[in-house]
Amino acid sequence: MTEELLSLPVPSVPAADRGVAWLRANVVRFSNGAEHERRRALTTKLLENVRATTLEELAQALNLPEALDDIAKIAPCYQPHVPITAEADAAAERLAGDHDEETAARIGLLVQAWAATNAFAEHLRTGNPGPPVPITRRATQDGVIEVSLEAHPFGHGPHACPGRALATKIAKNMAFRAMHFQDEPLVLPNAWDYTSAAALHAAGFTAIGTTSLGVAAAHGIPDGMGLAGKQAIALAALLKDLPCPVTVDLESGFGLDPAELVAGLDAAGVNLEDGRPHGLASPEEQALLISRVKERAPGVFLNARIDTHWQGVAIEETEARAKAYVDAGADGIFVPGLTEPRDIEKLANLAPLNVLAQQRTPKELGNLGVKRISTGSLLFRAALQHTVATARAVRDGGVPEAFSYAEVQALI
Ligand code: HEM
Repeated sequence: MTEELLSLPVPSVPAADRGVAWLRANVVRFSNGAEHERRRALTTKLLENVRATTLEELAQALNLPEALDDIAKIAPCYQPHVPITAEADAAAERLAGDHDEETAARIGLLVQAWAATNAFAEHLRTGNPGPPVPITRRATQDGVIEVSLEAHPFGHGPHACPGRALATKIAKNMAFRAMHFQDEPLVLPNAWDYTSAAALHAAGFTAIGTTSLGVAAAHGIPDGMGLAGKQAIALAALLKDLPCPVTVDLESGFGLDPAELVAGLDAAGVNLEDGRPHGLASPEEQALLISRVKERAPGVFLNARIDTHWQGVAIEETEARAKAYVDAGADGIFVPGLTEPRDIEKLANLAPLNVLAQQRTPKELGNLGVKRISTGSLLFRAALQHTVATARAVRDGGVPEAFSYAEVQALI
């Protein structure tokens, strides 16, 4: 039924040569028939080969750098049933150039992207399962009707969203970043395979990380030696289809070029550590790596893991490294082994701070300034322990509790 309704014509808009009315009259979104087909082809072509990780990068790719402030003014008045403000008209005129169809298409794309992607990111951040754009409108003989998008969050039929894949990537990046600026710290569980990640997401965790120990050990490979790159990359490829942001533990890059690696991953975040298989990178070397990754994939949240602390190096060295990595563009810092309140508070002042789960509640850690608590390899180790305990219980004649066969199948 919804599908039939979404195949009806969109409400038509009058011709106009200035401002938001001009924009509406020239974009794919409010056109029907042959005009829609022509504009749809133009829109699809403009999106082809766009590899943006942020809305800013999308604006640049659409040849509208610096346009997002104006786009934010146009967006609330874009729909034909909403009155147009003078501010929105002025913004549209600043971007309109020669008032040609291609310019309208570029502005239209960015308006669609801005409003819906911000809403989508907020849904991902809060774990809200509803459609970010709840309704759309269609024209019938009896007038304009509202059509629910509950069953089709990206639309359906001729007007279905052409930006779905791009929007999903950008929204996950935006949501994951925003999760590091909440009052309460983000509790980030670390998975080691597809199903452990899917089960954690189904249990209500809004973002999922991976554990390098878990991924390596599950394949019979020792951790921390850069040997499980192929397995970590294969897992990242599986997890990119999960409906939540995923961050991937890359150790120190598995001997690959981290900038290339991150750009090809499709993850909302990565962990990159300054530990090396046999020691530590110099702060300068690590800062350079970080800046190269950020240049290549600015929307991906780069969590710089600092391995000095748990190797017993003085806290001043950890602090100096944290400063250098943040200056190089790191979005967050991760200091495994950090538990001393004074040290936590000091480092939390520099950037969103990630610590490992410890004998303090998320609220207590949040009060010290922590923004992210990861489980590291804990869940993998707990699963291993539980597996052995379950087998022992069976040997001793028990029938322990576990997910049912159907519950596991439902996660796939
Ligand atoms: C990069 C970001 C995005 C771009 C470039 C984009 C672009 C577009 C364009 C150009 C259309 C009109 C297509 C047509 O009329 O033929 C459209 C439609 C649509 N978009 Fe997106 N969009 C983006 C993000 C999103 C997001 C995040 C959502 C919500 C989850 C969304 C939901 C929709 C829906 C529901 C429609 C169909 C509306 C209808 O049938 O009336 N879009 N999008």
